[in-house]
Amino acid sequence: MKPLRILGIETSCDETSVALLEVRKTATKILFHEIASQIPVHQLYGGVVPEVAARLHVKETVELLDRALGIRQGSPSTGSGTILGSFDAIAVTQGPGLATALRVGIEAGRTLAFLSGKPIVGVNHLEGHLASAWLVPENRKRWKFPILFLLVSGGHSELVLMKDFCSYRVIGRTRDDAAGEAFDKTAKFMGLGYPGGPAIAKLAASLLTPHTSRFHLPRPMLNDSSCDMSFSGLKTAVRREWEALPKKKREDEGTKADIAAAIQEAIVDVLIGKTIRAVEKTKPTAVAIVGGVSANRRLQERMATAVERTGVRLLHAARGLHTDNAAMIAAAGAWRLEKGERHDWKKIDAKPEWDLG
Ligand code: KG4
Ligand code: ZN
Repeated sequence: MKPLRILGIETSCDETSVALLEVRKTATKILFHEIASQIPVHQLYGGVVPEVAARLHVKETVELLDRALGIRQGSPSTGSGTILGSFDAIAVTQGPGLATALRVGIEAGRTLAFLSGKPIVGVNHLEGHLASAWLVPENRKRWKFPILFLLVSGGHSELVLMKDFCSYRVIGRTRDDAAGEAFDKTAKFMGLGYPGGPAIAKLAASLLTPHTSRFHLPRPMLNDSSCDMSFSGLKTAVRREWEALPKKKREDEGTKADIAAAIQEAIVDVLIGKTIRAVEKTKPTAVAIVGGVSANRRLQERMATAVERTGVRLLHAARGLHTDNAAMIAAAGAWRLEKGERHDWKKIDAKPEWDLG
């Protein structure tokens, strides 16, 4: 089989990313991959501002495509003749995400599809996160369906059973805030900046025993028989604890670290409890954690222990591919193209609210 070179484009939220992924029957190779993060800009506002995100995507998408394809130099960085000959297909994030941000990537993809005559496929960003696990060579060797995914990002918290490529059943999801949102919102009112997850994880890790905090927070819906989750009550409880503290305590690093550890532990408890319940219900061959929150070390370590006890294998985390990136979009695009899916470049449009399944 001739290798397929897929140009991936991701602009759904606050990272602009372009990748060139080579897909063969037995292996994948990332030929080019860059992520231009907008986080330093959004930090000034305490969160993502959609209009600002879209404007930055316009600038960065062109720059990254230039570097991926060698447009300015007039020769592609990866060889094979002309610039438009350096890829065989285009995969672009179609949704879910911010409508104006998504449209930037889609317009770039449409233009390249029109000029090159190559196929374009619109990818679900959530499917992209699942595909990040497939980019890890060791995982590919043990890729046997059904696989249970805990997908935890800033906008989503879902337990998804992958029955086959492109075939999913959502086993449970958050009824309100996503796990990443719980990290981000609690960090915001503690003055820790954006994004909150890494800041809370870093503070918690500064304690000698990060799991024994003197703050006791609720584990919403942990004992409920469903695989659904809820994190908005946790946010309220943290706010209550935080506001009850005297000003001096709120400025004390040790106290902040204690609260951070309590937040992290409560979120991790719920995510693990629900994942194990879903393992019991669905009997997968393996479990994978994907999405921005899967970068959390404590979650990775505790999940490894909990999953091992069930006798099911935990797939490796895709290092460097936890948060939004275009390599995962190109990988999911490969699955879709393999199934014969193509979009009409004249009609492809953003799907800001697009569920998996
Ligand atoms: O997948 P992602 O990049 O974007 C979405 O699709 O939403 O995830 C971003 C989320 C943010 O909420 C961020 O706080 C969280 O991932 N995050 C973390 C860590 N790194 C990123 N949460 C906990 N611990 C981390 N180390
Ligand atoms: Zn994401």
